[in-house]
Amino acid sequence: MGEEGLTFLSLEMAPRCNARCLYCFSAHELGLRPRDALSLAEYKRVIHEAVALGLRTVVYPGVGEPLLDAKTLSLIEFCAGLGIATVVYTCGVIDEKVLPRLRACGTSMIIKMDSLCPQHYERLVGLPFGPFANSLSLILAAYRGSSEHVGSFHITRLAANTVVTRVNKNDITPVAQLCRKNGIIHFVETLSRAGAAADHWDKLVGKEYAELREIAESYGHWVSSATIDGRCGLYAHGITIDVNGDLLACPTARWIRLGNICDHSIAELIAIRNDAFPNIAEHYCAARELTVGPEA
Ligand SMILES: C[S@@+](CC[C@H](N)C(=O)[O-])C[C@H]1O[C@@H](n2cnc3c(N)ncnc32)[C@H](O)[C@@H]1O
Ligand code: SF4
Repeated sequence: MGEEGLTFLSLEMAPRCNARCLYCFSAHELGLRPRDALSLAEYKRVIHEAVALGLRTVVYPGVGEPLLDAKTLSLIEFCAGLGIATVVYTCGVIDEKVLPRLRACGTSMIIKMDSLCPQHYERLVGLPFGPFANSLSLILAAYRGSSEHVGSFHITRLAANTVVTRVNKNDITPVAQLCRKNGIIHFVETLSRAGAAADHWDKLVGKEYAELREIAESYGHWVSSATIDGRCGLYAHGITIDVNGDLLACPTARWIRLGNICDHSIAELIAIRNDAFPNIAEHYCAARELTVGPEA
């Protein structure tokens, strides 16, 4: 982990989702009631401990839709009060009433945008396209004018994430154009072979992994959690705590659990994680290494 200490804390919330993506790495957990889920007070304690170690951003990567857990909005508002930034991953179909509260907290959102072709979107995400398109326009309206200049950086509060598969590989350009037009950062990623993606690998990737990766890389941003130094922020500069307090190797590699926040301090958990996974080189992705492997 870098000299600046713990910059990112990624927190998993209840595994509930309104979508059923064909490739979801956490598909097998969706709808399960987690045992020993952290309480709101326990999440706040973790955040306070992380602040003492240098925390600047809390990320909600989602074992589902983070905003479907009522604790998420409470934590976002709690963090805004502490001057801590928040990033939420979302499928983009969200309750319109929470948008002003998210915007007021300066929350950044990474929105799933796999395709603007209704048939391909519905096949991949398992949601009707109409409500997604409607919700997306409400998000764009709510966040209009929310980008700002900080020093030499142009900070925008919205980003889009596209996973490229055999289904949507010809749909990326219209998504990229929509993002450009609206000042949205666009990430295009290949699939990690985990969860439902492993179950449907042939249908989604098969022998086309190299081609799909080339397509993803041609769009520039390699992974939505990358920082300007080319490392995955969640992995190289942070830790991921699951809904029951377990430390995960990273949000995707959900089966690698390295201790629990109820038994260890965060500093101890960082040491355990660094011993287990010392490789934090530029463009290193624990999820890709652990799930795709040499056959790709
Ligand atoms: C698990 S989702 C949770 C947040 C939210 N429900 C969403 O889909 O954006 C977080 C991100 O992981 C991506 N994702 C899901 N399964 C994946 C996989 N097998 N490989 C790569 N990315 C995946 C999603 O597209 C999304 O951008
Ligand atoms: S990828 Fe996100 S939206 Fe899709 S099923 Fe998984 S958690 Fe839900």
